[in-house]
Amino acid sequence: MFGPVADDDVEAVVALWRACDLTRPWNDPYRDVADARLGETSTVLVGRATRDLPEAASGDGGAVRAGEVVATAMAGVDGHRGWLYYVAVDPRLQGSGTGRATVVAAEAWLAAQGARAVRLMVRSTNDAVRGFYERLGYADQDCVVLGRPLGAPDARDAGR
Ligand SMILES: CC(C)(COP(=O)(O)OP(=O)(O)OC[C@H]1O[C@@H](n2cnc3c(N)ncnc32)[C@H](O)[C@@H]1OP(=O)(O)O)[C@@H](O)C(=O)NCCC(=O)NCCS
Repeated sequence: MFGPVADDDVEAVVALWRACDLTRPWNDPYRDVADARLGETSTVLVGRATRDLPEAASGDGGAVRAGEVVATAMAGVDGHRGWLYYVAVDPRLQGSGTGRATVVAAEAWLAAQGARAVRLMVRSTNDAVRGFYERLGYADQDCVVLGRPLGAPDARDAGR
């Protein structure tokens, strides 16, 4: 069900991130996908619906077709730890175990790359999602994330 993003998936992936409110004006999501695909130790994994789901089974958002991209996780190893970004489940399927399956698949991918631990960042404006990660065994690492842009500022990096 989970595998690396293909060229034909990119529009669906970006649409899913937008539907899940994961995009930000300073990050070009197309560039994020492209950059992750360039690296030997980074990827965007997509999860596909394994069968057609009628509207009644998928909530209010309409039917889901078999093969449709319904989940994503960007994963990358920084040489020490593995990191997850863009963990997203199609709103029509949220609450049915797909998020757990997505994180498990991404963790397996990171472990296969040699990562011994996994980290992710949760925006302070998305505090509600912390309960999800806690159910999956994630815990506050008691760290503050600091950052600054590198190189010439552009629309992607301005102030971030
Ligand atoms: C967060 C998200 C990926 C979870 O996916 P999901 O398919 O709804 O989650 P699952 O159904 O697999 O839930 C897994 C477990 O977490 C629990 N859970 C899910 N969301 C939760 C929440 N907000 N608070 C507490 N527990 C939660 C479920 O009850 C389930 O528990 P169980 O396996 O012990 O029964 C999904 O809601 C999503 O895409 N949200 C929008 C994007 C987002 O915020 N991504 C995270 C960016 S850091």
